[in-house]
Amino acid sequence: MLSTNNTNDIVHLRAAGTSFVLDARGTGVPSITHWGADLGELSATQLAALADSRERALGPSSIDEPFRLSIVPLLAEGWSGLPGLEGRHDRSSAERGNDARGARVRRPALRIEGIEHPEPRRVSITLIDADADADADADAGADAVGATVATLRLTIDFELTAAGVLRSRSQLTNTATETFELSSLATILPLAPVARERLDFSGIWAAERQPQRSAIDYGTWLRESRHGRRGHDDSYLTVAGTPGFGFRHGEVWALHLGTSGDTRVWIDRTALGFTTMGAAELLAPGEVRLATGDSYETPWTYAAWSDAGLDGVSDRFHSWFRDLPAHPSTPRPLTLNTWEAVYFDHNFEQLAALADAAAEVGVERFVLDDGWMTNRTDDKRALGDWTVDAASWPEGLAPLVDRVTASGMQFGLWVEPEMLSLDSALAREHPEWILRDDDRPLPKSWRNQYVLDLDNPAAREYVREAIAALLDEYAISYLKWDMNRDLLGGSVHRHVRATYLLMDELRDRYPHVEIESCASGGARVDAGVLERVQRVWPSDTNDAHDRFSIMRWTNLLVPFEYLGSHVGSSPAHTSGRSLSLSFRLATALMGHSGIEWDLTNTTDEEKDALRAWADVYRSLRGLIHSGRVVRSEIGTDPLVTGIVSANADDAVFWVTNLTTPTDSVPTARRLPGLDPHRLYCISPVDVGAVAATYPGTAPAWWHDGELALSGAVLGSVGLQLPILHPDEALVLRATAVDDLDSCGAL
Ligand code: DGJ
Repeated sequence: MLSTNNTNDIVHLRAAGTSFVLDARGTGVPSITHWGADLGELSATQLAALADSRERALGPSSIDEPFRLSIVPLLAEGWSGLPGLEGRHDRSSAERGNDARGARVRRPALRIEGIEHPEPRRVSITLIDADADADADADAGADAVGATVATLRLTIDFELTAAGVLRSRSQLTNTATETFELSSLATILPLAPVARERLDFSGIWAAERQPQRSAIDYGTWLRESRHGRRGHDDSYLTVAGTPGFGFRHGEVWALHLGTSGDTRVWIDRTALGFTTMGAAELLAPGEVRLATGDSYETPWTYAAWSDAGLDGVSDRFHSWFRDLPAHPSTPRPLTLNTWEAVYFDHNFEQLAALADAAAEVGVERFVLDDGWMTNRTDDKRALGDWTVDAASWPEGLAPLVDRVTASGMQFGLWVEPEMLSLDSALAREHPEWILRDDDRPLPKSWRNQYVLDLDNPAAREYVREAIAALLDEYAISYLKWDMNRDLLGGSVHRHVRATYLLMDELRDRYPHVEIESCASGGARVDAGVLERVQRVWPSDTNDAHDRFSIMRWTNLLVPFEYLGSHVGSSPAHTSGRSLSLSFRLATALMGHSGIEWDLTNTTDEEKDALRAWADVYRSLRGLIHSGRVVRSEIGTDPLVTGIVSANADDAVFWVTNLTTPTDSVPTARRLPGLDPHRLYCISPVDVGAVAATYPGTAPAWWHDGELALSGAVLGSVGLQLPILHPDEALVLRATAVDDLDSCGAL
């Protein structure tokens, strides 16, 4: 413990080039003096001088003391932006009496109770809200601020992880005798005045995480998710930075809220001279009512600063995910998913033939998707009845599981535990388990299905035991956990909590079983679910043109080893677009690779290509799933996306053309992120099929098959490449060598 209950503290957390300074002097709510570049080792005197230097002049037409932005900015402090805490004690009926003027207004007002600094990179602040009389007592001396008079106690944790991710979480406890109804409890972080441009995301089904940017002007820019899941249009990662910031330049501050439920994120630029970035779980009115002694805990907010653009932010977040206890620890198995191959049309012969073909091309995990349950002939029925359909599977799943495992592959199974169909034995037996608002009719159906009220312990136990029975009976090592509708009713807060509990219970009981988070494709990709799963499905589209951008942007926050990416057939099922095999293979290499294609209907050439590609995946996955991501600047086509190993002795780059070129010969492509002082041998990676280029245009070195250049030249000058057709990609390997001669020997 570095210090306790010392309200004269200025706390300085430092990690990986980032500083976070908290001024907790006095009895007011602490304020963040600095979050950004590392300030070096600072003495107590220097820290005090830093904090003093941030004190502002008294503004014209303002409160009669210099305004100070606290970690929970409130109206009571003179803050006119979005508040850090909103809610009220239920005193209205008792106190209003016959007063016709309406309920008493009483907003939260906080002051510090204590601060703990248990580790060099962690600090925890306790604040209280107290009644007016207690305030008067407090004026008489700090000792008079007794815990007994507090009506709310709020504890806020800040931690700077080893990688420099700032994470924060708050816990609010009601210490009054009346119930407290919470409207919002947010994490609010100050942005430096140079942050004048923002980036976040929107999207639709099969086209998730499309970037959108704008200037940060006065007012509140707010994104809310009201889907009961993150949604296809999820804001995902909110970034503010110096105008024009890019992947490799600019000072940026990024924030993500770690929950799979409803969210609010905002950037608030007020005329007070502050710009803040905030995030909170979006709560429905009355959803969180705290009786005396009850507590509410926010999800973690994750934030990262970098002066090296978006790649710097990715570096920090990726390190964070890679340190999670649930981070996948084994090489990511090449996966085949049956969905686009057979949809609901399940029969043993067809699926056994698919499994054989999968094993032949080198697949390591075979995942049986939707369609295996009793009566599940289409998406109109049978969700909730987690038993194997006797008509399609007269001997159960055992013959298929045995066939799969006998050929050395793992067996994975699709489930959708949070849902039920009206046409199911479960809904007929327990109609009361369908999630809805109190005393309301059922919410509108969505993909013909409804949500199971998992917060009801009996319903959760039912589905847990149904899945456990499958895991006990079959050698299943993987669950694809789907969620195919918005909630449109019930408590999202409680649903998310119950879903996490269910996942945790199953993972505790079956630690060898991995989970993939899927929600109509990519509608649930967040740090909350990623604390418990080993894969996410970023999108339902296997169209490589759309998929390439989705992978690149999803990877801004989440490292590639978590992100499923499958080779699909051509034309693509979701878009009807036809794309070359080379482009589909190159794109599917970017992530946790898989196949979603009816291999019983492919040519020998296609199978040969897949076999070669599977070998390439196996040889590159160690690098792709552990290295640092580097990206060429936004708006440059062909795009360069690379992964560089931790010690920079190995790298792979995708050079991708998604548009019609505007230069007859594209300018040299820079390969960023390599060690400028080392020599690299550059060679094309044969992904199994040759990318289409304009005829006769490859530069001479390409015909030689390799070239040795220094990291400095590759990063600052770049190199000429064949002219790609639109929707094509080249994959290049850069391997550090000691001298030019070693290059040819590789
Ligand atoms: C939606 C998923 O995103 C698909 O991959 C597939 O699993 C279907 N659901 C099955 O219903």
